[in-house]
Amino acid sequence: MHRMIIEGGRELSGEVRISGSKNSAVALVPAAVLCDEEVTIANVPNISDIKALEEILNYLGAKVEKQKDIIKIDSSKIENKLIPEKISKKLRASYYFMGALLSRFKKVEMYFPGGCSIGARPINLHLKGFEAMGAKVTENDNLFTITADNLKGAKINLDFASVGATINIMLAAVKANGTTVISNAAKEPHIVNVATFLNNMGAKISGAGTSEIKIIGVKHLHSCFHEVVPDYIETGTYMILASAIGKDMTITNIIPDHVESLISKLEEMGVPMQIGIDFIRISAPQKLKQTNIKTQVYPGFPTDLQQPIAALLTQASGKSIINETIWENRFLNLLELNKMGATTETLTNSKAVIIGPSKLKGKKVKATDLRAGASLVIAGLIAEGKTIIENADYILRGYENIIEKLTNVGAKISLEEIE
Ligand code: EPZ
Repeated sequence: MHRMIIEGGRELSGEVRISGSKNSAVALVPAAVLCDEEVTIANVPNISDIKALEEILNYLGAKVEKQKDIIKIDSSKIENKLIPEKISKKLRASYYFMGALLSRFKKVEMYFPGGCSIGARPINLHLKGFEAMGAKVTENDNLFTITADNLKGAKINLDFASVGATINIMLAAVKANGTTVISNAAKEPHIVNVATFLNNMGAKISGAGTSEIKIIGVKHLHSCFHEVVPDYIETGTYMILASAIGKDMTITNIIPDHVESLISKLEEMGVPMQIGIDFIRISAPQKLKQTNIKTQVYPGFPTDLQQPIAALLTQASGKSIINETIWENRFLNLLELNKMGATTETLTNSKAVIIGPSKLKGKKVKATDLRAGASLVIAGLIAEGKTIIENADYILRGYENIIEKLTNVGAKISLEEIE
């Protein structure tokens, strides 16, 4: 386990270069299993979630070669084996192996624990999609067994525009007999990135990025080269940080369109931004105005930026209201922010209030999940004095080289390994 130590209260300036998207890469790596030949994926972030997925690939017998941000995967000789719980429970995105292995072998067995600190995290919509294509699903004590004589194209309407279900159904459908149409599909940038990867292999997917995706089944998928899209949640996290204590910070290697909802919120808060083709330059204003946040599916305000922006809202003048509509338990970071001197109140599991500006003081706090951890990093960098963040491994799951990136813009931050 690691803990993070931050000496806060310093202005940050310089450049932060954004890495490949965690939530795209964690789908692309399992999707490689669908290919009958070697695939190459570039701009893969060096984060623990990817390491966990490589472990599953190696367990299945795939050949995996990693040089810096480039991963080559040859799964032509993999075996279909039950994926043990100790590996699959390391990250939620292991569930993408369900769609990929079901498509490849017409059978998949894996443990899949539900739940984490942000909510119950059911997978009923994933399973609904597999069953619509003719698969049989049984579950016994978190062990899921999914089999199909063959997978046939189907029309599937998602009750909720679920990212995971959209991608998992796409993976199961690319080699099915006939055409699958997913309606009320998720539209996040990583959906488009995964569909493009599959099309580069020879799949026939259209409509990714809209609420209706059509997948015409094909027989064979061939070798290809693909690149992970820049991480818009990492982008937003550093934009929020710059809005709090940046003195001319530039966030580069980004796609500004992907953070449009955040840009509009920061404008409401009075944050001046210079927006380029692939960069955003931000200096924190003297005074931040309050704003209200309502999380929604893309292109609405991302739930994954709700916790990071909460740290910024503690510095805004007035009362800000957060309405979290996606996850039922995503305010645990507010308790930790209060320990540092913030004034926040969780009214219900979907509504919280933040009153500012508050003077934050460095304290010992605890990360409860990845984005809660990001919220505490931002608060620690704002606060006067030393902040210690326990369970910092959560943060390392989704932010590549965060210590180096922040040190390069003037932060005093380090990681300590504890037993
Ligand atoms: C992905 O989770 C992301 N994770 C999450 O990011 C992100 O918060 C979420 O999408 C929403 O953008 C990855 O991509 C690995 P969903 P996912 O299916 O796919 C309900 C982070 O910090 N639902 O879009 O699990 C669910 O309960 C992580 O990087 C069902 O009811 O999210 C929730 O209310 C945290 N049944 C809503 O949909 C299902 O079968 C959103 O879930 C699936 C989901």
